[in-house]
Amino acid sequence: MKLKEKLKKLKKEIQQAFAGVEDLEELEKLRVKYLGQKGEVQEIFGQIGEVEPEMRPEIGKKTNELQEQAAKLHQKEKKRLEKKEKKQKMKKEKIDVTLPGTKPEMGYAHPLTRGMEEIKEVFLGLGFSIAEGPEIETEYYNFEALNIPENHPARDLQDTLYIDDKHLLRTHTSPVQVRTMENQRPPIRILAPGRVYRSDELDASHSPVFHQIEGLVVAEDISFSDLKGTIRSFVSEIYGEERDIRFRPSYFPFTEPSAEVDVSCIVCEGEGCSLCSRSGWLEVMGAGMVHPNVLEMSGYNPEVFSGFAFGMGWDRIAMLKYGIHDIRVLFENDRRFLHQF
Ligand code: PHE
Repeated sequence: MKLKEKLKKLKKEIQQAFAGVEDLEELEKLRVKYLGQKGEVQEIFGQIGEVEPEMRPEIGKKTNELQEQAAKLHQKEKKRLEKKEKKQKMKKEKIDVTLPGTKPEMGYAHPLTRGMEEIKEVFLGLGFSIAEGPEIETEYYNFEALNIPENHPARDLQDTLYIDDKHLLRTHTSPVQVRTMENQRPPIRILAPGRVYRSDELDASHSPVFHQIEGLVVAEDISFSDLKGTIRSFVSEIYGEERDIRFRPSYFPFTEPSAEVDVSCIVCEGEGCSLCSRSGWLEVMGAGMVHPNVLEMSGYNPEVFSGFAFGMGWDRIAMLKYGIHDIRVLFENDRRFLHQF
């Protein structure tokens, strides 16, 4: 075939090819095929030397024109296809604002944390502040400074988890009473929530780790009626105003007089049921007036200062409040359990 005819044929081919192209990828292939360094237009340029010399200028001119035309055509199609693809992309990525959203996973406060927070709120409202103490305690703070004598059964290995001769996992939050009295001046009004440990086998109602909330008030002229009034407010807020309370005489080495505080049963309201062992009452805390020996050891003159203290196991209260029958679920971190609250 003569080069002139080849040129004509190529021109037609190019026009058709570019007109039918549907996407940018295909267009790029055509560009390489016709306009690339080794493309068909270049091929014709390479063959010009083979035609008769008088024909060369005309063919050269025509080939140049074809190259220009093809380049223009390519540009035109490129713009069209780019526009088209952008439109398609926009359509695909359009957000339907009427669709329901994906719900974020909400976290839940553990029932122990929630209950603790509620109790803190009540006492903060009564003017208390929050105090803390270490979970690894010395014998001095856990026992001695609390007037717990050397031969007291609480000190026994059977009940207490010792770390070495002098250190142990605190068996109650009461050491925070002493630490606070040593560091603050009266009037003192603190609430000390925290973990405590005892050497108990784990079962449905016992755990070697549990939680207590300690309270301490020390000032001049604090009396047992202040203790009663404080407990009364606390019980009304947490258990409801209709609850009765009663104080039963008891014994703690660090309070004198001492009492156990009972609340009328939250299930039977005092009638007697299985929860309260038919007594109509639930035991919620130990309390009493700070023992003069404890005040003295902490550097207070018991003739001038007096105070009351109370301590409650929060786990049992949370179990009663939320109807939990096995203490172990509080520590197993099963989300199915936690999601119920
Ligand atoms: N610490 C006592 C206990 O663990 C409770 C208590 C605290 C009693 C404060 C009286 C005053 O049983």
